[in-house]
Amino acid sequence: MAKMAASMVESGEDAFRKIFKFYKRREPPPDLRDVTDFCCGVPGDKIFPAKLDPAAVSDEEAARVGLKPVRDWRAFGLQGYPGFIFISNPFLRGSHAFWIRQCLKTYPQKPNICNLDMHMCPADTQDIWGRSAHDLGSASSGKRRPKTLLEKLRWVTLGYHYNWDTKTYSANNHTVFPADLHSLSFQITAACGFPEFSSEAAILNYYRSDSSLGIHVDESELDHTRPLLSFSFGQSAIFLLGGTCRQDAPTAMFMHSGDVMVMSGQSRLLYHAVPRILPAPQERALENLGPASAQQDGGVLEPVSDEDWAVCCRYIQSSRVNVTVRQVLAPGRSLPETPPASLQRTAGGQVVGYHDGGKRKRSNSDSNTVET
Ligand code: SIN
Repeated sequence: MAKMAASMVESGEDAFRKIFKFYKRREPPPDLRDVTDFCCGVPGDKIFPAKLDPAAVSDEEAARVGLKPVRDWRAFGLQGYPGFIFISNPFLRGSHAFWIRQCLKTYPQKPNICNLDMHMCPADTQDIWGRSAHDLGSASSGKRRPKTLLEKLRWVTLGYHYNWDTKTYSANNHTVFPADLHSLSFQITAACGFPEFSSEAAILNYYRSDSSLGIHVDESELDHTRPLLSFSFGQSAIFLLGGTCRQDAPTAMFMHSGDVMVMSGQSRLLYHAVPRILPAPQERALENLGPASAQQDGGVLEPVSDEDWAVCCRYIQSSRVNVTVRQVLAPGRSLPETPPASLQRTAGGQVVGYHDGGKRKRSNSDSNTVET
């Protein structure tokens, strides 16, 4: 736990909330010396090398989704958090660009669901990328230009669409899960000892430099023996990992572009939050993330055009995207159906749940809402 922040916490109080506020604070800026940085991960009293299964994923399978051979991954565990695995950027140089482009251009497309669908007509959210690409980097002549749709994007859901109101998934609120993201998640979970993981839902969170994500536990999935997988792209963040109650003071860690977290076992149902977005460190700067020219035969990584990459760069120079992938279903259990009264229809014709708030608060406005 952060010593500075911890010294402010009195016994019995909501230690998570206090430390969340400590790192969210702008003035005076918080002291970041206690934030664990796996990037320069030197095993010590807090972090230790995590055991992976390199035989579970061949080098070819890894390369097809843009990953280094598993034996080259730098994976760590954290003292006091059994089942938590942090993989420091296992991506091959040049493959970030593909995944960033998917998060910005492909996954926000229909039939996937995003926050903009809650208050805009479907025809207007049909082509978020196309309607934003031109304006995104344009210099304004003194006046502030209106935000593009991409800059207003806060979340996208894939597969079983999470309902923020009821905090549930439902059997009749589902669209096809992207095959490429399924493949990436499959290789990572297999290497981490979960060869049967099935990607059934994802939530993409889009953070601007002043965004944060409130304190929550991901417990809506039916099988908590299956891990939760988290990918970060773009700017960096402080991630807080707490305990099973809010009185447990959280550990603060940096998440940089390309970092992957696996929350499993006893760490699957812990409180966590993102109080702060920070500029990426120099060695993870955007210029190092550009597309590779060579493509892996049979891989899922299509080339990213210079034009698309220019748009991605303009977006992520001040933003972060996080993707969490979940298995929703459990053997012998079924999801409820969403009652017709709480359904709405999109232009694509599919029925979607109504997302609006929920305990783990999200807002459809310009900054992510924080529950503290
Ligand atoms: C989440 O907990 O849903 C996302 C966390 C993150 O943005 O790293």
